[in-house]
Amino acid sequence: MRAVQIERYGDESVLQVREVPDPEPGEGEVVVRVVTAGTNPGEIGVRSGAMAAMYPATFPMGEGSDLAGHIVAVGSGVPDLAVGQPVIGLSDSRNAQAELALLPADRVVPKPDALDWDVAATLYVAGTTALAALQTVPVGSGDTVVVAGAAGGVGIFLTQLAVGTGARVIAIASVSHHDWLREHGTEPVAYGDGLEQRLRDAAPDGVTAFFDLFGNGYTDLAIALGVSPDRVDTIIDFGAVERLGVQAKGMAALADPAQGVRELAAILAGGGFDVPIKARFPLEQVQEAYRELGRRRGLGKVVLRVSAP
Ligand SMILES: NC(=O)c1ccc[n+]([C@@H]2O[C@H](COP(=O)([O-])OP(=O)(O)OC[C@H]3O[C@@H](n4cnc5c(N)ncnc54)[C@H](OP(=O)(O)O)[C@@H]3O)[C@@H](O)[C@H]2O)c1
Repeated sequence: MRAVQIERYGDESVLQVREVPDPEPGEGEVVVRVVTAGTNPGEIGVRSGAMAAMYPATFPMGEGSDLAGHIVAVGSGVPDLAVGQPVIGLSDSRNAQAELALLPADRVVPKPDALDWDVAATLYVAGTTALAALQTVPVGSGDTVVVAGAAGGVGIFLTQLAVGTGARVIAIASVSHHDWLREHGTEPVAYGDGLEQRLRDAAPDGVTAFFDLFGNGYTDLAIALGVSPDRVDTIIDFGAVERLGVQAKGMAALADPAQGVRELAAILAGGGFDVPIKARFPLEQVQEAYRELGRRRGLGKVVLRVSAP
């Protein structure tokens, strides 16, 4: 089978599509023929070596965590999954961007038929990170919530979930995404010079929860706005925990991420909210996909189409 392989730390050019042996499922494992694989910005840090202290790589390694596809082989001790079943999966060992992916069965969730394949491949990382953030700082009617990075992969989930609670959601994003954010129940505000004043004007009675999905000083802004540190969650600025006393809980904070994916899949299959796919590339163009992701601009998710459904 063909799979993305990486032989050394580096820029996008180290992402190569190679022939590798087909995986065989062991006990408690399944093999999935991948239709769509997702991409997430954390993968850039692992691949480049920037995150080597926290997530060291051993080479050769594959790439990607998120995927959706059909089960093609089931190992022993997996009573509730069957060959042919459409599923959503998570690779903990960076091997999702491949024609065949070997996964632990407890990281595999049935895909509702009504759920688009590309959208299905965005739920595990971005979707459960949004759920974890909202579990860390719960919001509801009466809250005025600010989301920095509202149009990004995690932001599109978090903003819509927060709107669904009845909270007032102020979404920080480029002006080009304001129409979409307004149509989805938020009040968009542009980032850049004067942002703090724009937020004060938008929320004269104060902000009760702040989600930093971008870093670069948003936790400081939240504190400057008077948000209580325990009502600030960042998924990227980990140094702010010690510095400001804010929370930094991402996807790892969720006790049962598979259950979170099941819930998101059901909401999306029922038309509950939208996940825009900002760019879709064939597996062979994995380098272009990560260049697009690395621009850190745009509405929604970048995915890789690996095979036809
Ligand atoms: N801790 C965890 O469990 C966890 C899990 C997933 C992700 N993460 C991290 O969380 C971050 C967000 O992930 P993601 O998938 O949402 O990333 P993403 O999709 O790459 O986010 C891109 C978004 O960032 C926005 N942006 C660019 N410059 C900005 C600025 N100066 N201020 C505010 N927003 C700005 C862009 O908005 P415009 O297009 O509107 O300019 C774009 O929509 C990443 O750093 C990722 O590594 C952590």
